[in-house]
Amino acid sequence: MPKPTPDLMEKIVSLCKRRGIIFQSSEIYGGLNSCWDYGPLGIELKNAIRNFWWKEMTQLHPEIVGIDASILMHSRVWEASGHVEGFTDPLVDCKECKRRFREDDLPEELQKSRKCPECGGSLTDTRKFNLMFRTFMGPLEDSASTIYLRPETAQGIYVNYLTVMNASRLKPPFGIAQVGKAFRNEITPGNFIFRTREFEQMEMQYFVPPDTADEWFEIWLNRRMDYYYRLGINKDKLRFAEHPKDKLAHYAKRAVDIEYLFPWGWAEIEGIHNRTDFDLRRHQEYSGKDMQYFDEETKQRYLPYIIETSGGLNRTLLMTMLDGYYEEEIKGEKRVVIKFSPHIAPMQVGVFPLVKKDGLSEISRRIEADLRPYYRAFYDGKGAIGRRYRRQDEVGTPFCITVDYQTKEDDTVTLRERDSLAQDRYKIGELREVLWKKVNVV
Ligand code: GAP
Repeated sequence: MPKPTPDLMEKIVSLCKRRGIIFQSSEIYGGLNSCWDYGPLGIELKNAIRNFWWKEMTQLHPEIVGIDASILMHSRVWEASGHVEGFTDPLVDCKECKRRFREDDLPEELQKSRKCPECGGSLTDTRKFNLMFRTFMGPLEDSASTIYLRPETAQGIYVNYLTVMNASRLKPPFGIAQVGKAFRNEITPGNFIFRTREFEQMEMQYFVPPDTADEWFEIWLNRRMDYYYRLGINKDKLRFAEHPKDKLAHYAKRAVDIEYLFPWGWAEIEGIHNRTDFDLRRHQEYSGKDMQYFDEETKQRYLPYIIETSGGLNRTLLMTMLDGYYEEEIKGEKRVVIKFSPHIAPMQVGVFPLVKKDGLSEISRRIEADLRPYYRAFYDGKGAIGRRYRRQDEVGTPFCITVDYQTKEDDTVTLRERDSLAQDRYKIGELREVLWKKVNVV
C-alpha cells in the first residue's frame, strides 16, 4: 500500500506558483483565504480534464445530454432541497485562542471534553452554521429578495429534468450532465485547492425506473472508477469508500465515495449517490407542479429515482498533479517531472529550434503553426536545449520536437518523449499523425 507523502503538497504549491499554474487570488492585496486563480497552464489543464469528463459523460452515451443552468436559482429551490434547513456544519470556537473548528473534525475525546486541539482551552457550545452563501437580488436587502449561490449544481438539473427529457425525446433510463461553479462557506477550507469556498463540480444525474436503481448504482460505480484509471491515475491510490448507513446525507439511500490517497491520507474526489425520488418529490411538493414521468407504453406514472455521480474538477486537477509528480535522476542530474496522461497535459507538444539562427527558428515556427489546430502546441527558442526540456518536464509536456541542422537536409526532426526520454527522428510531414496516436492513448 503506498504511503502518504506530506511534503509533496508543498512542492506542488510552489511549482504551481513558480510556473503560473495556480496562485492566490487578489495576491497584491495579501490574498483571499481559500480563493485561487488559474494561470495559462492551469486553465489548459482544467479545460482538458473538463472536456475529457464531458466527452465521457455525454458524447459516449446517446442517452445522456448536457445543460448549463443558472448559478442563481429561486430561493424556494433550496428550501425544497433541504439546504436552507439542513446544509449546516457544527461550528465550535476556542474561548482562549479564538481558533475555529468543525466539531465533527475533532477527535472524539476532544468533542467530549470540549477542549481545543491547539491550546487546550475550552470550546464554546456547538452552533449550526449554514454553508450557503447568501446575498440579495435587486436593490432591497430584505428576506423577500434573499438569494443563494448554489452549493451544488444538481438542483439545476432536477428542476429542469422534464423540460430537458421532453426536448431531447428521452425516457428513463437517461442522464443529464453539467459542469459548473458551486459555492460553500466552508468553516475549514484548506489543503490548497482541495477544499475551497468556490469550486467547480462535474455532475451527472441519471434518472431511472425505481426498481432498477440498485443495478444502475453498481454500473455507475464501476464506470466512474474506470474513468479515473483512464485519466491516468495510479490504480493503487484509488479506492471506494462506502458511507455507513447512519452517516448518509439527508437525500441518500446509498452513497459510495471514490477516494484518492492524498499526501495527508485518503480523501474523497467523487461521490456516487442513490438519491431515490427525494429531490423530485420535494420539488413537486414545494412547486405544486407534477414532476412525474408518464410512460406512454405502460401508461404508468412515476417519479424516477436518481443515481448521481458528483465529482470536483479542482480536486481532480490537484490529484492529477500529485499523482504524476516524480523526482528522478537522469545521468546524475535531478529532474522534476509530472507524468500527465498526454490527453490532459496542459501543453502537449513543444517545438524548439536547436539554435535560433540559420533558419531553424522559421522552420520551428512553421511546424508549431501546423500542429496548433490539433494539439496544445507552443514554440520556445530561448536557452540551452537541455534546460528547455527540463522546463517542459516539470509542467508535464509529453512531447518536444527539436529542429536541427539535419532538418535542413532531410526534413526530419527529433521527437523527444517525456517519460521514456526516447528521441526518434520523424519526417515533418508525418508529425501530425504520429502525435495523434501518442496523444490519444485512452
Ligand atoms: N450533489 C452532490 C454533492 O454536491 P458532495 O459530496 O457534497 O455531493 C461532490 O460534493 C464533490 O464536489 C466532492 O466529491 C468534491 O470533489 C467536490 N467538492 C465538494 N465540496 C468541495 C469544496 N469545498 N472544495 C472543492 N471541491 C468540493
